[in-house]
Amino acid sequence: MLLSIIAAVADDLAIGQDNQLLCHIPGDLKRFKTITTGHPIIMGRKTFESLPVTPLPLRRNIILTHTPNSLPSGCEGVETPQQAMELIQSEEETFVIGGAQIYSIFLPFVQTMYLTEIHSTFPKADAFFPSFNPSEWIETFREDHDSSDSHPSFSFVNLIRK
Ligand SMILES: NC(=O)c1ccc[n+]([C@@H]2O[C@H](COP(=O)([O-])OP(=O)(O)OC[C@H]3O[C@@H](n4cnc5c(N)ncnc54)[C@H](OP(=O)(O)O)[C@@H]3O)[C@@H](O)[C@H]2O)c1
Repeated sequence: MLLSIIAAVADDLAIGQDNQLLCHIPGDLKRFKTITTGHPIIMGRKTFESLPVTPLPLRRNIILTHTPNSLPSGCEGVETPQQAMELIQSEEETFVIGGAQIYSIFLPFVQTMYLTEIHSTFPKADAFFPSFNPSEWIETFREDHDSSDSHPSFSFVNLIRK
């Protein structure tokens, strides 16, 4: 059972503002869909509520919340991180997709990170990725992309824990 994080993280570790993403990067959304489709995804209730479509199709949607009965059908609500881990024991790879609270909980148990490094800072951000030590990770992939009118330059980066 492989547990992975997928996240779009700015230079200042910002990941969100007002329960939305920081900017719209079509290539990043496409990569997210390609990587996570067919696999379970674990998220916090706030991230779930920020999604344009719920549940995200073709993936088990596992949502951490203290009120799982309030979730719509097609979702698997769990009240503790341990319950989430039990649900994915027989899965090949599961993706932790945010937000800030959920990344902090699961980062210690994650072996792989699929990051989109957004090469900018966001002073009004209110959600942040947990700080981590890059020397504990091996970079296995990097692909740089130019900025556009709607977003800063960014890089796709894959990391594996040493
Ligand atoms: N850049 C990216 O890649 C990315 C990805 C995802 C999200 N985001 C952004 O991140 C922000 C949201 O992050 P967030 O930290 O505010 O919220 P979040 O992590 O998405 O969800 C927090 C909620 O999860 C539940 N929860 C957390 N810990 C729990 C525990 N131990 N047991 C049971 N339930 C627990 C609680 O739900 P209840 O209140 O229902 O109990 C809590 O309010 C948004 O701005 C979003 O756009 C960015």
